[in-house]
Amino acid sequence: MTKIIVADPDPHSQRQLATLLAERGYEFDAAPDVDAALRPLRESAVDVVLADLSLPGGGGLQLLDQVRERHPETAVVLLSAFGSVQDAVQAMQRGAADFLGKPFATDQVMVAVERALEKSALQRENRQLKTALDDRLRLDNVIGTDPRMQVIFKTVQAVADTRTTVLITGESGTGKTLLARALHQLSDRRGGPFIEVNCGALPENLLESELFGHVKGAFTGAVKDKVGKFEAAAGGTIFLDEIGTSTPAFQIKLLRVLQDRIIERVGDTRTIPVDVRIVLATNKDLEQAVRDGEFREDLFYRIHVVSVEMPPLRERASDILPLAEHFLQRFADEHGRPALRFSDAAAAALVAAPWPGNVRQLENVVERAVVLSRGEVIDRADLPPTLATNAPQAGAAPLPALPPDAPPLPLKQALLEPEKRIIEHALAYCDGNRERAAKVLGINRSTLFHKLKKLGIR
Ligand SMILES: Nc1ncnc2c1ncn2[C@@H]1O[C@H](COP(=O)(O)OP(=O)(O)OP(=O)(O)O)[C@@H](O)[C@H]1O
Ligand SMILES: [Mg+2]
Repeated sequence: MTKIIVADPDPHSQRQLATLLAERGYEFDAAPDVDAALRPLRESAVDVVLADLSLPGGGGLQLLDQVRERHPETAVVLLSAFGSVQDAVQAMQRGAADFLGKPFATDQVMVAVERALEKSALQRENRQLKTALDDRLRLDNVIGTDPRMQVIFKTVQAVADTRTTVLITGESGTGKTLLARALHQLSDRRGGPFIEVNCGALPENLLESELFGHVKGAFTGAVKDKVGKFEAAAGGTIFLDEIGTSTPAFQIKLLRVLQDRIIERVGDTRTIPVDVRIVLATNKDLEQAVRDGEFREDLFYRIHVVSVEMPPLRERASDILPLAEHFLQRFADEHGRPALRFSDAAAAALVAAPWPGNVRQLENVVERAVVLSRGEVIDRADLPPTLATNAPQAGAAPLPALPPDAPPLPLKQALLEPEKRIIEHALAYCDGNRERAAKVLGINRSTLFHKLKKLGIR
């Protein structure tokens, strides 16, 4: 249904316009000032706004600016009894669909309205086409304009309809779980179940019965048969998260499923074929784990058929603002504040931040800002003050100056103390997670272990 807003403070021309529109069967709202004209736009799509230049509450031009900014698909026709050529030029330059002097002839208004309607329909169509186009380069709700993300999307799209095992690696919070879900949604298995198992959260024996099921009496407490997740995921996808921390015994069992697509319930010798797509994820460097003898090499090659590596957010700065906007829209809607936007300073701070917690951290920061902000703009002050300074290198306190009369130590020895402080800081910063600490320090894990030992840390 076509919807029009008539924002004219003059009751006579208000009535005149209302009659014209009603006669032609258009639905319209009358608005006496700028605020009242904007209100219906927030609630539903409006095709055309007819506004007088002298509209109370800021004037027709201000209304025009606000509509252009927030509702670009709505066309604005300005009217004025005292309008000069300059006003008209200004209005058109600022994006008005038309400008009419008063008094106006009936035909003139209707032609302007019809044209504005066409324009707004065209805008909408363009936008739909554009989103359709964007959708091809996007997975459902997965934002990524960075070239590396685009390659990932293409890979995922290419393999979606196959049963190929997919390994997703990347730091915590980079979107591994989200991508696994998107892969399932894209695949022809989307009608089947998507079952997620965190392999790092359970001790080995429980994990085994969780995944493969067990028969009654298989162990103490196995009072009845239990169907495992592999069987439950039949026809769909099973997502095995944190695969890097699994035990060698479990890895052998997993290898078997991957090779033969059969499982055995714990305590049973019958083999059961399973039709599942297996997606695995880890935030560990599996190649390193293989070198360290923690991860079976044969399993590594088996799951490395198709692998995607989610880049950390700090390496894809062009995704920061699109992601921030995406989260802003979601949280602003959730909190009933649809007009919220970032100030330039806030946007700059977001782009400059190092994001050690990746997209998850950005998501949290945006939600916090939505809750804290007052008014329609999220400013720098609504972002955590530590955002810019939470890079580990910036967090370590500067070294005290050395008194000139202190006897110098051999360099190697002198460097031990600051090295120790830097490593301790990185560990504290990463909540004791050595994997991540090694990463932020830019050294590999075995080097870190070696240093921990040498420096006597913990
Ligand atoms: N590209 C993206 N577009 C939109 N949202 C994203 C994107 N990447 C991540 N997110 C969101 O960020 C949050 C963290 O993502 P996700 O849980 O998938 O990360 P993860 O890599 O699985 O982390 P972990 O290693 O801790 O399991 C989720 O809320 C997810 O929806
Ligand atoms: Mg995850």
